[in-house]
Amino acid sequence: MSESKISYITTPIYYVNARPHLGHAYTTIVADVMNRFHSMYGKETFFLTGTDEHGDKIIRAAKDENISPRTYVDNISGLFRALWPELNIKYSHFIRTTDPSHIAVVEKVLQKIYDAGDIYFSEYEGLYCFGCERFYMERELVDGLCPDHQTEPEVIKESNYFFKMSRYQDWLIDHIQKHPDFIRPERYRNEVLAFLREPLEDLCISRPKSRLQWGITLPFDSNYVTYVWFDALLNYVSALGYPEGELFHKFWPHVQHITAKDILKPHGIYWPIILKAAGIPVYNHLNVHGYWNVEQSKMSKSLGNVIEPLQLKNIYGLDAFRYFLMREMAFGLDSNFSELALVQRINGDLANDLGNLFSRVLAMVHKYFKGVIPEPDPNVEQELQFGGLSLKAEASKAIAEFEESMASFAFHKALMAVWEFIGHMNKYVDVTAPWELAKKKSSRKELEVVISNLLEGLRIISGLIYPIMPDTAFAMQKYMGADPESALNIPSSPEGNISKPFYHFDVLKKPKLILPGTKIPKSVPLFPRIETEKKDTDAADAGAGEPLLKPEIKPEITIETFGQIDLRVATVLSAEPVPRAKRLMKLEVDMGEKRTVVAGIAESYAPEELVGKQVIVVANLKPVKLMGVLSNGMVIAAVDEHGRATVARPDQEVKPGTQLR
Ligand code: MSP
Repeated sequence: MSESKISYITTPIYYVNARPHLGHAYTTIVADVMNRFHSMYGKETFFLTGTDEHGDKIIRAAKDENISPRTYVDNISGLFRALWPELNIKYSHFIRTTDPSHIAVVEKVLQKIYDAGDIYFSEYEGLYCFGCERFYMERELVDGLCPDHQTEPEVIKESNYFFKMSRYQDWLIDHIQKHPDFIRPERYRNEVLAFLREPLEDLCISRPKSRLQWGITLPFDSNYVTYVWFDALLNYVSALGYPEGELFHKFWPHVQHITAKDILKPHGIYWPIILKAAGIPVYNHLNVHGYWNVEQSKMSKSLGNVIEPLQLKNIYGLDAFRYFLMREMAFGLDSNFSELALVQRINGDLANDLGNLFSRVLAMVHKYFKGVIPEPDPNVEQELQFGGLSLKAEASKAIAEFEESMASFAFHKALMAVWEFIGHMNKYVDVTAPWELAKKKSSRKELEVVISNLLEGLRIISGLIYPIMPDTAFAMQKYMGADPESALNIPSSPEGNISKPFYHFDVLKKPKLILPGTKIPKSVPLFPRIETEKKDTDAADAGAGEPLLKPEIKPEITIETFGQIDLRVATVLSAEPVPRAKRLMKLEVDMGEKRTVVAGIAESYAPEELVGKQVIVVANLKPVKLMGVLSNGMVIAAVDEHGRATVARPDQEVKPGTQLR
């Protein structure tokens, strides 16, 4: 870990043309984990996230919704801002590219680069992808199509301002070669270097106002707005009050960016060159991760297979969700998202390995010591060997491996080191067999040592998992009798300094911080097992699958209460019966976004009778799992006294997603 006492971590600023999804949540959780990890060294930390609000994409999305760009960006930016606290993400500042202070910095930097002669005016004809908001070169296209959007770029000819990136190509190659971890992991460094083997084209940094007004006007030509990437990248310095701001001077020299591989080129090429041209020191590290894929394809709004992160954390618990994301993905490589893998990790790593160890040890404190933490006799050997291992040595090893892996963003390895230690702890319990020691008075002192060592091991585990599972760390320490005021008080304000004694590495490495004589409270399971089979059946019995045979008399409600129900028209894209559930049909529907809905209509319809037809869906119903399938909405149907369902649908076909009012 670097000696520096300061840390500055950023996420990409997310486009507001789509609601936040698992991919955004992953990057932002990584940043939060890293920020908390740095705080464990007592560093002063700054963690930046925010939203990217200008450009074609946004304007088109606002038009689709029939609202003004301003209202549109406020709404979606608000969704991102509201989501992060729900994922226990404690950012320091949330930047929006529509903030006046950001706009002023963009203008300042543009003028500076223009005055230095690195921006020129020229006519350009090229292949433009509206999805990416950028020109493509022939050789970058795949079968003539944009590789990201699978659409044919349009030929556009216009006069524009260009940034002389080519001038800095050799400098950039040299910089990357001299700083091997400038872009990491190495595969992405190599990718950037490979790209730089071809001559770098100058970057078109303007859009004529005749085509786009939603952007920052160029300070030297009011007929143009700034290209959205030139505007967006500058958020990393504008948020700190560049050029004079105190925050800028303090934090900028320590900056580390985090992004996925989709935006490697702007971050690995445009951004260092912009910084160089503007006379700002370049960043320290760009940390690039892979994609979370669902059914092998990248999640995005256009492909429709979006998983709402909140649904998963609501179903399985936030810390389990955070743990899964950090443990399952090898940073840098793609990962497949699977709910089954999540449940297996919860039941295996969390409920079984960690949860059982914790309950076992605490139950023994209650059983053998009346819930009071024992004080071992210093004259008794504290280092009880087990299977040739020393618990203390294993703890030090776990801490060292954890620190090293975390510092290089290898979260899965860091967690493997912790879980290896958890394995040793479980073995220690089995080998020392405290229940045997408890049978004889003569081994009382040995029992005290064993239990006290185990509590110490749990304390270390709670400290190590803190960046990834802060609430669990908190709960473990509370149940081990730590003082919540001095040790656990994590400030709720996003601006707060989250470094606290128990989470400080210096303290973590100090032995015996669990205070003897403390009476500990009764604990509850940290991670209840997910009973998949049983839960599915219960949910199916209680859920939408049960047709109503008699009309139900329901209480009177107000129009406001009714208004809270979000009814939408959806077009059925595919339908298939749910195995082992005779009434349930799984529908993939298009309602502006793609969703999976399970409906109790399989006895009334064959799948082919539904495909291509429209139905009405309750869109804001809390998701429920029916026979293992997560249903994200409910289809409205008229159900007769025999249980036969007739789905309600609009009189004429309407646009998917249209709301019923
Ligand atoms: N606005 C630009 C970034 C400007 S930064 C100066 C942008 N926004 S975005 O909304 O498209 O976000 C892209 C980022 O979201 C990715 O780099 C990554 O951090 C995250 N992810 C989006 N989908 C993802 C996955 N499927 N998997 C992992 N991360 C993904 O690009």
